[in-house]
Amino acid sequence: VFAHLVRAPEDPILGVTVAYNKDPSPIKLNLGVGAYRTEEGKPLVLNVVRQAEQQLVNDRSRVKEYLPIVGLAEYNKLSAKLILGADRCISPLFYCLITHCMEYQDVRFKSPAIQENRVTTVQCLSGTGSLRVGGEFLARHYHQLTIYIPLPTWGNHPKIFTLAGLSVKTYRYYDPATRGLDFQGLLEDLSSAPSGAIVLLHACAHNPTGVDPTIQQWEQIRQLMRSKALLPFFDSAYQGFASGSLDADAQPVRMFVADGGECLVAQSYAKNMGLYGERVGALSIVCKSADVASRVESQLKLVIRPMYSSPPIHGASIVATILKDRNLYTEWTIELKAMADRIISMRQQLFDALRARGTPGDWSHIIKQIGMFTFTGLNSEQVAFMTREYHIYMTSDGRISMAGLSSRTVPHLADAIHAAVTS
Ligand code: LMR
Repeated sequence: VFAHLVRAPEDPILGVTVAYNKDPSPIKLNLGVGAYRTEEGKPLVLNVVRQAEQQLVNDRSRVKEYLPIVGLAEYNKLSAKLILGADRCISPLFYCLITHCMEYQDVRFKSPAIQENRVTTVQCLSGTGSLRVGGEFLARHYHQLTIYIPLPTWGNHPKIFTLAGLSVKTYRYYDPATRGLDFQGLLEDLSSAPSGAIVLLHACAHNPTGVDPTIQQWEQIRQLMRSKALLPFFDSAYQGFASGSLDADAQPVRMFVADGGECLVAQSYAKNMGLYGERVGALSIVCKSADVASRVESQLKLVIRPMYSSPPIHGASIVATILKDRNLYTEWTIELKAMADRIISMRQQLFDALRARGTPGDWSHIIKQIGMFTFTGLNSEQVAFMTREYHIYMTSDGRISMAGLSSRTVPHLADAIHAAVTS
């Protein structure tokens, strides 16, 4: 009965690893998937994760019962606090002052929404699962079915939202000429979006471009979106990875929460705790009142129960153990910063290596972009050439995962890029 099926193509990102695994070359290099590697090119399990797992193993009272549909309560609370800020209010006057001074960098936002119980958080299967649950919830209960996603965006976004039942449109984001943000295009496209439309925003470290708005630009985006009642849906997959600071990377989200409006936030611990395969994430919906938030949660349960019933326990227990323990938390921030710093140093090394080779072109975007990825500007033929001749694997849009590079492999990549642009 399935004989008529045609073979589906490999996933544009995960398929790169499939191709890499098949390559017998000893010099092969996988810069496709966004997964952190050490200087030795090995996957990293954070020390704090090992410690948390040890604590969990030692606790003989732990059982393997089903979690509630919405997941581990303690984990949900801690996750909301991590992205939205601690649960203390700042005075409206102080908020006004800082928004006018634009000195967000030094300010720790405190989330009034948590204080007022206006946030509902459900544990989901990493970022993808959180986006999918949020998308299905919106398709069932929100009056506007159009979601605007940046152009370009993470390859899974359009598929997730289309299958969730939303209609996907794009807004301009990246300008290939400047290899930076097309801010004017972004503002124009959001201005002409229908009132109430949903807008997907990368909270920080935009994937694939590594280009983020400045805080001042975020403030303009916020004002425009609120004036048109556009609904923000944040994808926060890299908190801590852009700047090395968890608070700084959460600022765009916190600005939208501090103004008292509604928003959705999908969080993932894949990258910032290295919990890729544990599939641990969360969806938070910030509502107008505690009563609305509790009704929203009741409806989220109806989305989740027929989809996967309830989430897995292990990853969320690791995260909760780390987030609630002051020492583990501090150690985590140090390990996170070390990962972010190693990526930043890879940017500098690659930039220097290209300059040393006299590779034609302006490569300064490599050090200007942030997060896990560099959007190199290489085209699909150049990428194919680098894979064929140098066994370097990356997505065909020219995105490279800086987290997969090391001092040892930078020269090989620089040679390949040089050959690709000069041949
Ligand atoms: C990526 O963009 O490489 C990561 O987010 C992994 C994935 O699932 O695509």
